[in-house]
Amino acid sequence: MLVLGIESTAHTFGVGVVNEKGEILFEKRDMYKPKIGWGIDPKEARKHHEKVSDGIIKEALKIGNPDLVAFSAGPGLPPALLVGLKKSKEIARKFNTKIVEVNHCIGHIEIGKLLTKAKDPIILYLSGGNTQVIGYENHRYRVFGETEDISIGNLIDVFARENKLQMPGGPIVEELAKKGKKYIRLPYSVKGMDVSFSGILTALKKLKGEKIEDLSYSLQETAFAMLIEISERAMAHLKKNEMIIVGGVAANRRLNEMARIMCEDRNARLFQIPKKFAGDNGAMIAWAGYLMRENSKNPEEVDIKPKWRTDEVEINYR
Ligand code: ATP
Ligand code: FE2
Repeated sequence: MLVLGIESTAHTFGVGVVNEKGEILFEKRDMYKPKIGWGIDPKEARKHHEKVSDGIIKEALKIGNPDLVAFSAGPGLPPALLVGLKKSKEIARKFNTKIVEVNHCIGHIEIGKLLTKAKDPIILYLSGGNTQVIGYENHRYRVFGETEDISIGNLIDVFARENKLQMPGGPIVEELAKKGKKYIRLPYSVKGMDVSFSGILTALKKLKGEKIEDLSYSLQETAFAMLIEISERAMAHLKKNEMIIVGGVAANRRLNEMARIMCEDRNARLFQIPKKFAGDNGAMIAWAGYLMRENSKNPEEVDIKPKWRTDEVEINYR
């Protein structure tokens, strides 16, 4: 069985093809990059996705005719999501298949579990749009903690943008942080299971004359320590002994190192997702679509769900 998955919630237009064994037979993506100093413009993202989609889909179809199509229905930016919707309908009609609406966040979780073989982990989901601590309980992926304001990816990207660094900021800030030597105290804000990052951003803006390397280092050390603290609390509370980090920020080596130390202290195991599949991609949508194949619909019945929450999805396959 071949499942073709399409991702188009934000910057990335991606297509993946997987089979029922969880083998990733095709994965290709193209990312819309806003001008330096600017954030995402949803209409520009849509134009980008429309431009690159047909070429990538054509390549993906060389693997074989799909038996099922999956697309990322949300959460995401409506103009960007609509490209995935339209393309998945075109493919499903051409090959006479059904379509599965996949929740983007669950795509990140399921590809993480597939590639690491983690069974029942605490999931730290960190990206440009999300910062959540998630655990499986009673047929849902439940959110136990989250950010009260901006996401971790947003903190890093806005910091990068204000310092005129290339976007996305994550990889560059990670490199700069490696060269940082001085730790500058930044607001550490954890309330119960939730975190807040806007204080760090405000403090960083006010600092004058500090080196970008030291600022990057201090940002990472402070923000990541907050995330590790709430993950540890979730593991203790839910009695889970596995952890995985998913979403674009999961590519960060320092974050993984901090998580590994915490897990070793509690005799738990950190599973590390291959860097390539941490960020948005079509393979994660194809695989989650395969798992959720019982929920497939006819092309005229599917739609986008821009505000779809992780815990709204009933998990009927585990
Ligand atoms: P979502 O829709 O799930 O919120 P997204 O559109 O933000 O996802 P992702 O690819 O999951 O897309 O995540 C992108 C984020 O990951 C960006 O904020 C980027 O700066 C961050 N990122 C990428 N690589 C790294 C890294 N090495 N260190 C830290 N952050 C990183
Ligand atoms: Fe994502």
